[in-house]
Amino acid sequence: MLYIRKYTIPIFILTLIAMVISSCDDGRIYEKTVHIPREGRTLKLTGKINGIDKWTSDYSIVVAGFDDENKYAIISKIVSTSVGEDNNIQVIMAGISDDVTKVELCAIDRLRRRVVTFCSINSSTAEADTIRMDVGTIDVSMYHAIQTNIFTANCIGCHGESTEAAAQLHLTERASYNALVNQPSIIDGNMLRVKPNNAQESFLHLILNSNDYSHHPHVDILPAKTKTELLELIDNWIDGGAQ
Ligand code: HEC
Repeated sequence: MLYIRKYTIPIFILTLIAMVISSCDDGRIYEKTVHIPREGRTLKLTGKINGIDKWTSDYSIVVAGFDDENKYAIISKIVSTSVGEDNNIQVIMAGISDDVTKVELCAIDRLRRRVVTFCSINSSTAEADTIRMDVGTIDVSMYHAIQTNIFTANCIGCHGESTEAAAQLHLTERASYNALVNQPSIIDGNMLRVKPNNAQESFLHLILNSNDYSHHPHVDILPAKTKTELLELIDNWIDGGAQ
């Protein structure tokens, strides 16, 4: 009797474990293997793409598919920096579903949000299964993206395009970098316009995020739709060393 009592409980537990293990192998696994047919369109991008490595690690340069409403990529593929024999970069992205209406060469952030677009094709009208995108020679570096999408698009009307630049700050293509990085602010001589590695203490950051620092309100200059991403882009560029 003592013998039985001593081993009854361990044997019971062992039997239970054996039942659990065997129940995992009862053939149901086959029901889960659903055959999904390969579908969707394919994007083939080619071009001489320069400056991919000139971004901070907050971003990826990708080919990506979007719909009309959302700025989050539905599908994306990283553009690698390795070039082919003819110095061209080629990217192939398969499986583009029907809800994708635009395919782009763009920069996305860690949330897969579109930050800036370098090239875009309306894919809803493309009839063929393969969408070809030749971007030619293109500079996708971080500073060039800031220049094009922020300064040239929103600032140069007052800062450099005409004969006079507000606050003597020229934000035009070749002038902007030297006018900003390590240059003292005219409004507050104790501060730098851009202090590398420190966005919070850069006058450029302050004037775009609060109207307290200047007589001329700047917070609503950037378009509402992309403002959050563009302000983050400036901050990440400064905090990444302002290259
Ligand atoms: C409608 C005209 C206008 C536009 C557009 C404009 N600014 Fe300004 N900006 C000014 C004026 C005027 C001042 C000087 C304000 C003052 O003295 O208080 C100024 C000052 C500045 C300063 C401070 C410079 C210093 O040395 O202290 C920075 C930085 C700046 N702007 C950046 C920008 C950026 C970036 C944009 C685009 C996103 C922009 N501005 C768009 C008119 C403008």
